[in-house]
Amino acid sequence: MIKNVPLKDIKLGMCLAETVNTDSGVAIYNSNFYFTSRTQIVKLQDMGIKEVKINFDLSLIDNRSEKEQQVTRDQVKKELENPIERFEKMSDLIEETHELFTHSEKTVEEAMSSVRFGKSLNQEAIKKETTKILQNIQRDPLVSLALLDLKNFDEYTFIHSVNVTVLSVAFAYHLKFPQEKLISIGEGSLLHDIGKARIPLNILNKPERLNDAEMRIIQKHPVLGEQVAIKEHIDNDIIKEIILHHHESFDGSGYPDRLDGTKMKRYASIVAVADYYDALTSERVYKKIISPPDAIKMIYSQSGRKFDPRVVNHFIKTVGIYPIGSVVELNDGRIAVVIAFSKDNLIQPIVKTLFHIDSPKILQEEIVSLIDSEYYIVNVNNEFINCTKDIFQGN
Ligand SMILES: [Fe+2]
Repeated sequence: MIKNVPLKDIKLGMCLAETVNTDSGVAIYNSNFYFTSRTQIVKLQDMGIKEVKINFDLSLIDNRSEKEQQVTRDQVKKELENPIERFEKMSDLIEETHELFTHSEKTVEEAMSSVRFGKSLNQEAIKKETTKILQNIQRDPLVSLALLDLKNFDEYTFIHSVNVTVLSVAFAYHLKFPQEKLISIGEGSLLHDIGKARIPLNILNKPERLNDAEMRIIQKHPVLGEQVAIKEHIDNDIIKEIILHHHESFDGSGYPDRLDGTKMKRYASIVAVADYYDALTSERVYKKIISPPDAIKMIYSQSGRKFDPRVVNHFIKTVGIYPIGSVVELNDGRIAVVIAFSKDNLIQPIVKTLFHIDSPKILQEEIVSLIDSEYYIVNVNNEFINCTKDIFQGN
């Protein structure tokens, strides 16, 4: 539903249905823009704009009664009321999670190499690894999401497969799928690109952007993956569906079967959005890292095109508008990293402040919950994106 909303009634979390322009036609905010701070609304007021078109299907606003909303607000406040304790709890799990993911990457590497050299796939190892990842997510999904390893492109396929698994399983966990389905989704995610083991290495590992002919070969990997699944007698439909259909699009422009929104497979669509998010936020030789909040915006912009809008909305609730590790600027000029959030309040996370934007060498470290705080996010900062590593990965 799209409606005109007077500026005075705009709430944080509302999503613009169309671009807002100045009188001279310069775009101020694009369609699919989410209001995440009061300054953004004030900016429009100052420009004399009276109302904007809001897309209520994509907006993250609460339509429940005031009483019900208050209950949630109290819960969120309680959940995030002791930010230091919350971060310390996460820190306890960080090293263990790091070791687990490194091990998972090796498991994917071994699986790919078995297929490449004609040996049989160790399905037991994949299941065991998936179970460990799921247990990790069930202890604290935010720690798992904080440790997505984004920066090392030498072993891209293995790390990417683990990242996609963490994202997909955390997403499916948020959707409350039963345990056995979560495991199947995880196994499918770890193996989603197994068909790439049948792609010549000179194409697969080419550091530069692929040409059209090479791209067509790469695009065979879902079908090649299905052939591997048949040869390995994988009879789990969820795993097979993910391997074959994780590159289909809601608008029918994907591959291999050009399935549209009416035929799009449920489990594959979970992995498709996770796959896209991780590819955006990863560094390749020919492409820079896109910051997590910008990747989220790009996913929004593909809502109804590449992705089912319902899938996008739930994915954002899992990952956040400011995903863990996002580097943001607060209204007092401090640069901070998002370290936790509640799925019921995506726009006021817990942050760790690092320094003032004007004096990056002088530390101003503090852990702050932005709920009921005088501080709020004014900008996403892409200049200090590597600060995330210092906090979560100890580099
Ligand atoms: Fe793929």
